[in-house]
Amino acid sequence: MIKAVAFDIYGTLIDTQAVLGQLTQVVGEKAVDVAKTWRQKQLEYSFRRGLMRDYCDFSVCTREALIFACREQLIELDSAEIQVLMNTYSELDAFDDVSSALEEMVGSGLHLYAFSNGSKQAVERLLQHANILAYFTEIVSVESVRSFKPAPEVYDHLVDVCALPSAEICLVSSNTFDVLGAMFSGLKCAWVNRDSAAQFDPWGIKPHIVLGGLAGACHEIQSLDV
Ligand code: 2OP
Repeated sequence: MIKAVAFDIYGTLIDTQAVLGQLTQVVGEKAVDVAKTWRQKQLEYSFRRGLMRDYCDFSVCTREALIFACREQLIELDSAEIQVLMNTYSELDAFDDVSSALEEMVGSGLHLYAFSNGSKQAVERLLQHANILAYFTEIVSVESVRSFKPAPEVYDHLVDVCALPSAEICLVSSNTFDVLGAMFSGLKCAWVNRDSAAQFDPWGIKPHIVLGGLAGACHEIQSLDV
């Protein structure tokens, strides 16, 4: 049976699009396009650096992706504007369904782990701000192995920290690259697809569970056959 649940952070527990309000104050009507490119480029930079073996703090990927996304709209931010947006990004809110789902899982005896490309310090700040830090047994950051998702070593590190067989750990993520990476490493996986328009990659493998949100996740995960 599943004994531990590892949660992806950005986009799964924390709503990265919550930065839109602050972004609109800085870039105006281009905010939606900038936010989309910002997230896409942030992840692309982490993928590149993983392949290049050129690790850096995930906040560097985030900062450089923001600059790229703005320049694509012919907007040049000054250092103060960049800092304001990076500060906002470091204290985003959780999705509405997160706190009650985490509380139910802890109450049912599951050990919860925050598992992220973000540094331990950055994730702790996010979870503290979102008032959900207390639900987690530990924060597991890829910084310990100096690579990024979906590199196998980051999931191996997660399994080591959980000190359980990989099949007794369930990853919960909205990011398909993360779900595929974890399944490749033998973990059970729940894909959180909050956007019904999104599709899972046609890689011939499907997540063990597909969720429209975190309500009901505890029961689904505990019903998984290990
Ligand atoms: C994470 O939190 C980037 O969403 C990814 O690791």
